[in-house]
Amino acid sequence: EMSPIEKAKFVAAKQATEHVESGMKVGLGTGSTAEWFVQCLGEMAREEGLKIKGVPTSKRTGLLAQKVGIEVITLEEAKWLDVTIDGTDEYDSDLTLIKGGGGAHLREKVVATASERMIVIADASKKVEALGAFPLPVEVIPFGLPVTQGLIEETLIGMDVLGREVTLRMKGDVPFVTDEGNFILDLHLKRIANPRQLSLVINQIPGVVENGLFIDICDAVIVGHGDGRVTTRD
Ligand code: A5P
Repeated sequence: EMSPIEKAKFVAAKQATEHVESGMKVGLGTGSTAEWFVQCLGEMAREEGLKIKGVPTSKRTGLLAQKVGIEVITLEEAKWLDVTIDGTDEYDSDLTLIKGGGGAHLREKVVATASERMIVIADASKKVEALGAFPLPVEVIPFGLPVTQGLIEETLIGMDVLGREVTLRMKGDVPFVTDEGNFILDLHLKRIANPRQLSLVINQIPGVVENGLFIDICDAVIVGHGDGRVTTRD
């Protein structure tokens, strides 16, 4: 028996498979919700004999895709994608997202941007009035980390946010390392008044590779509920 939250993720993921047809190239997201999608897609492709090619957004998702029998190709091989299906940490009424709780937002943003459409799958708890309760992940290169962190902290002083604490993401006693070999700084902003401005300003700091705000990228959110209902926002 699934918990209501797992059920919500599952029904959203299952519904998302209806946006995939034979012959499509599909971006495969990262995280627990996206993993439900990869499993459902593998099953559907097998049962209906569909020809699907998948571009994973992380090593973890790539392994799962292979396990469930989805043909995995690189983004270079794909060149462009029909659709990307991914989870999110938060979304607002403009379909702006905070992603990167799993540390994969850099590849996720590259893959989603290379796609005709990005469809997000989420349980209802991911909907927020204002973004920022979830810490904003920022991928930075390891070189000069304290300098980059200092510049981010300085930049936040001038921004319309409620919190300004910046923490290095750890994995046990050592920094968490992304698939691209970088570190993650989590920005505890509590409330982001102007995501567009914040994203631009953060991304122009030297040493920053990419922040977790997805602006004008997501086309629709498929929302799963604990009772098995599915609703859509677009
Ligand atoms: C991975 O870096 C994230 O962007 C995930 O997509 C996000 O954390 C959602 O994960 P869950 O589906 O596990 O909540």
